[in-house]
Amino acid sequence: MRRGWSSNHLVFISLFSCKMSLSSPNQFGNPSWAERATAIASLLLHMPLVLIWTLLTSPFHPVNAYKSWKRVLADKLFHFFTKHLNAAQMQWILGDTYQVYTAWMKGKGLSPVIDDLGENTRLFWIGKRRTDRVILYFHGGAFLIPMPFFFADFWEHTLTQLQHRGVDAGLAVLNYTLVPSAAFPTQLRQAVRALDYLISTGVRPENIQITGDSAGANLALQFMSHLLHPLNGIPKIRLSSPIRGAYLMSPWVSLSGEGGSLVSENDNDVVGTKCLAAWGRQVLAGIPDSQRPYIEAIKASKPWFSNLKTVVDRVLITAGDAECLRDEIVIVADRICRDHEGAQLVMHKRGVHDDPYFDFLTREAKVGEITPIIWDWLAAGFKQS
Ligand SMILES: *[C@@H]1O[C@H](CO)[C@@H](O)[C@H](O)[C@H]1NC(C)=O
Repeated sequence: MRRGWSSNHLVFISLFSCKMSLSSPNQFGNPSWAERATAIASLLLHMPLVLIWTLLTSPFHPVNAYKSWKRVLADKLFHFFTKHLNAAQMQWILGDTYQVYTAWMKGKGLSPVIDDLGENTRLFWIGKRRTDRVILYFHGGAFLIPMPFFFADFWEHTLTQLQHRGVDAGLAVLNYTLVPSAAFPTQLRQAVRALDYLISTGVRPENIQITGDSAGANLALQFMSHLLHPLNGIPKIRLSSPIRGAYLMSPWVSLSGEGGSLVSENDNDVVGTKCLAAWGRQVLAGIPDSQRPYIEAIKASKPWFSNLKTVVDRVLITAGDAECLRDEIVIVADRICRDHEGAQLVMHKRGVHDDPYFDFLTREAKVGEITPIIWDWLAAGFKQS
């Protein structure tokens, strides 16, 4: 899949430079001028030094020693960005998912394909809009930042890989509202709306697979929790048959985090311990304890997911064994898999948080070891119907 630096990258860079001169009227992505200046200074002055040091020391690093130099740089860049910039600074630089999506489509010479579902909920289609088989994708980014463009690259390539396996499917990205514009359970309400909408267009539940990474996988867990234990105030989901599958990449199962890997993998992962804790505090603000199991699967009781197989046929969870969330993901995955023979956890040796995506940022010649497993698993799910 080696491809050159596409026009996407250029569109993305120009989007970045436009943002420098814009200021948005609402709270979203509107840091103070001092915050803007420090963000620029740390990216231009501090980051290059950190990257050079990381590259020089990488042969002696337990995880980096096994990566390509491009991955060493890209992973550290992400680590730096998330460590040194606060949510408002990141939002200011990255924009929202609509901007990322439209720029990404423009880079491919395509017009956006958007369904407006009301309540500020939209579906952005990657590839053709379809009603036969659909992946409903919840993007990650801590509920704070938009979908990065290389996540879209991964999913676009996934559709091609499904075709190679004899499956045609469409993929809709849920554009949900970010924090601080709205908090839990707004995103869950939007996810439910998206599923209802797909079903109303004729997609059968057995032809739907839900996917999500990090906070998006957290949203998928919220969704599954809601299917099993309907949350007051959110419309109930009525299914004529179980949903075919749910794939969770590096799910953000613990926002108040305590796992040992949170500390031990700080220097190995692409998002560090402190950053995860700060994001968690921001997202959890104001959420009553009684609702924690929905947004923090680790806080759910052991039998919470025991009937999952009645509503979701197959579940795949993947995690990197060099990621901060590793230990907590393993606990939640074990609970889910114990009562669901169609559920499995796959660990990625020396994988970081959301590892499969980063190969698409650096256009690696070879994808990571779990990536073909994800593609096979999604294809097998669609082939069952
Ligand atoms: C997409 O979601 C973002 C984040 O909340 C929001 O700011 C934006 O208005 C939404 N855009 C569209 C076109 O739905």
